[in-house]
This record gives sequence, structure tokens and C-alpha cells, in this order.
Amino acid sequence: MYKFYLFTLLLSSAFYANEVPQNVIDTGNKVSKSLVKQLGSKLKHELQTNGLISAAVFCNENAYILTEEVNLHQLKGVSVKRISLKYRNPANIPSEDEIKVLKEMQTLLKENKLPNFLVKNTDSSYKYYKPLVIKKEVCLKCHGDISKNKELLSFMQEHYPQDKAVDYKMHDLRGAILVEIKH
Ligand code: HEC
Repeated sequence: MYKFYLFTLLLSSAFYANEVPQNVIDTGNKVSKSLVKQLGSKLKHELQTNGLISAAVFCNENAYILTEEVNLHQLKGVSVKRISLKYRNPANIPSEDEIKVLKEMQTLLKENKLPNFLVKNTDSSYKYYKPLVIKKEVCLKCHGDISKNKELLSFMQEHYPQDKAVDYKMHDLRGAILVEIKH
């Protein structure tokens, strides 16, 4: 009886060590939501008032800066960025461990098992990943087949000569928002 008790005690403490602290999840949820809201509402406003090209200029000039601004408002040790396997802005290139997680997400998406977020514990931090799946047709205006819109195409070619973020389809994984929380 005593042995059994000790065993379950050990098991539960091992499980506890692998558990993600609630504050990591809360921070990840909060920061990723705030970034989606910032970028989404401003992009929508720009599209509605000034049209597609001007919205593309807006993304080009502001998306990265807005992300950095959300960053400035975080506590020490918390940072946020956007990553993608097929990226447009080279600032959003994922690292090796992040590439693995993005690929894992693609597999989960195919199997219809993609959760709202994933958390990975690395040596120095927790990495909270919020998957970005293309759920709105409007995303395809700039990330789908843009070859027929010559003005948009030349804008993208001029600003992103290595642009990989085209030819996406509805329900593809576009990338992720990554919130890193240092231990
Ligand atoms: C008007 C054109 C336009 C529309 C519409 C648009 N994007 Fe983008 N997107 C861009 C540009 C330009 C960039 C590169 C600038 C940046 O974000 O740093 C970009 C970058 C991104 C990135 C960062 C990763 C990367 O490739 O560099 C993500 C993620 C993204 N877009 C998702 C979306 C989603 C999801 C939608 C639909 C809600 C969307 N975009 C709609 C133009 C657009």
C-alpha cells in the first residue's frame, strides 16, 4: 500500500514538472489576441477605405512596426513575433525548432486535430504558438494567386523579391504567432 502511494506521488510530481504554468497560457492568449486585433482591424479599415494596393502599402510599412509596438508593451522576458514556412517578410523566418512546430501544425491541421495553441518548453523559455489558418477570402487577395493583379504583383516583387507568401488556399496554415516567455 505504501509503495503504491509513493509511486503515484512520484508519477504526479513528474507530470507536474512537464505541465505548462497557467500564467504562460494566459500571457500567450492575451498577447497573441492583442496582435491579431491590432493588425486585423487596421488592415480591414485600410482595405475598406483606401483599397487593396493601399492596404498592401499599409502592411508593408506597418505590420512589422505594429508587432514591435505590441512587444514594447509586454513585461520583461515576453516577446511576440509572426513566423511562417512560406513567408513574405524575411523578418518572419522561423528558426529550426520553430520550423518543426509549424510542420507539426500542418500535420495536425490535415488530421483535423489542430488545437487553438501549442506550448513548447525549450531550455530558456516557453514558446506559445497560435496557429494562423486562412479563414477569410480576403487573405487570398494578397496571399493567393496574385499573378493576375499586375499592380499588386509588381508591388510585391519590388518590396519582397523573395516573396513566398502566395498561392495559399482557404484553410491552409498561413503561419503562427509566437509568444516567447522566458523562464
Ligand atoms: C492588402 C494585402 C494583404 C492582405 C489582404 C493580407 N495580407 Fe498578410 N501580408 C501582406 C504583406 C505586404 C505582408 C508582409 C509585411 C509584413 O507583415 O511584415 C504580409 C504578411 C503576413 C504575415 C507574416 C508572415 C510573412 O509571410 O511574412 C502573416 C502571418 C499574414 N500576412 C497573414 C495574413 C492573413 C491571415 C490575412 C487575412 C486576414 C492577410 N495576411 C491578409 C499583405 C496582405
